Amino acid sequence: MSVWRIKPVSAFEADMKKSDLKRVLTKWGLTSLGIGAIIGGGIFTLTGIAAHDYAGPALALSFVIAGIGCLFASLCYAEFASVLPVEGSAYAYAYGTVGELFAWFIGWNLILEYMMGATTVAVAWSGYFVKLLHLFHIDFPIWLCNDLASAKEKCLAAGIEAPGFAFNLPAFLITWVVTAILVKGIKEAASTNNIIVIIKIAVVLFVIVVGAFYINTDNWHPFIPDPVKVIGEDGAETVKFGFGGVLTAATIVFFAYIGFDAVSTQAGEAINPKKDVPFAIIASLVVCTILYILVSLVLTGMVKYDQLDKAAPVASAFSGIGLNWAVFFITIAATAGLTSVMLVMMLGQTRIFLGMAKDGLLPRGMFGTLHPRFKTPYKSTLLIGAIVSVVASVTPIDKISEMCSMGTLLAFAMVCVAVMILRKKKPELDRPYRTPAVYLVGTLGVLFNLFLMTQVRASTWKFFLIWGTLGVIVYFLYSKRNSNLEKQNLNP
Ligand code: ALA
Repeated sequence: MSVWRIKPVSAFEADMKKSDLKRVLTKWGLTSLGIGAIIGGGIFTLTGIAAHDYAGPALALSFVIAGIGCLFASLCYAEFASVLPVEGSAYAYAYGTVGELFAWFIGWNLILEYMMGATTVAVAWSGYFVKLLHLFHIDFPIWLCNDLASAKEKCLAAGIEAPGFAFNLPAFLITWVVTAILVKGIKEAASTNNIIVIIKIAVVLFVIVVGAFYINTDNWHPFIPDPVKVIGEDGAETVKFGFGGVLTAATIVFFAYIGFDAVSTQAGEAINPKKDVPFAIIASLVVCTILYILVSLVLTGMVKYDQLDKAAPVASAFSGIGLNWAVFFITIAATAGLTSVMLVMMLGQTRIFLGMAKDGLLPRGMFGTLHPRFKTPYKSTLLIGAIVSVVASVTPIDKISEMCSMGTLLAFAMVCVAVMILRKKKPELDRPYRTPAVYLVGTLGVLFNLFLMTQVRASTWKFFLIWGTLGVIVYFLYSKRNSNLEKQNLNP
């Protein structure tokens, strides 16, 4: 059946030769892009709720669990990136192995990962930016820095009248700043990113090293608090703490790891993609995993888990010990750091669209045209900017982040399946990087990521199924008919 047609590896190689993108990214530039995409809202914001409500001091264990799943996926991504160093990432890998409909479906889910990832971070950015202004005694009105639901909730908590309208202006504006940088080009984006990544790593190291002096080991006992069953407003039962809580926290902090795979979307701009992209994928993930585990140990050691601030846990831990200058430093760095996550996420999205447009699965005029001077896919960048800015201004962060995680988990599982299929079908291909124990690692990767999907809320599953159905409809109405492979069959 034609929906299972496969794009030959030789066709990918031909596409790579024809690419107009400039090859400017080195091994360290790619690693920096990976770290730039990974460290963000997950560690600076979501650690608070994960430790306070679900894992307690065992937050570090949740990071280990989520990190292991990502490690399996990263080892599979790395092999693919060495065989097919093309901008389409997991979408392209599935197209070269499993078949077109599957590939389309992955690409459709990657939209959730990249576009909803950028949207989530735009909202997190707004939170930190508002906090930063507050340090200078400038306060935004609640209705102008929140979506309506969040604004109502905050007004209710503060005992003030809820607004009838709300719009997250900082989230809207930062999206357009990032969009403008991306339209101008990868080189400028990469050097901006490098500076931000250095600041971001510096602040994380600062938290670990300085925070370590303020650890009170009593805060780590009990390491896994006793489980508590809670009935939510929707009647659903949730387990807080205990091992179940640690697993729930792992699904929350999974968001913190998203981004290592964004490196694979930059293959078209890498100087030596076959070697450097696999290196950068694994290196950026390993560095961040180590940093995350240390940060979570320090945080839960500095502050008793039930006293952790849910909105800005890292900065607040330092205000709790009276280091107010550190709060200032961390808030500025987090604001800058979140910008770089948006940069890489939106960049990745344009490159995936570019890959799909080149194959005829998306309209070329919109997604495949490069700017004559900047050599960037400017039209799709502007479209993505428009969608991200609008969704970020009117939607609560938890809804967007869960959709992002769902799309990502499915894409990770798919890549693990696809790498095993490619080994079996084409053992002779040149693989500068080979996944170790590929069938074991691949299988564990699939199981792990699918298991985490089962832990996500039912309401998110509903949206996810609607999104998936829509994807299949678009495929049959547009993509299947316009696919390059379809045209080649008609005109052999
Ligand atoms: N890993 C990225 C973050 O935590 C998406 O912001």
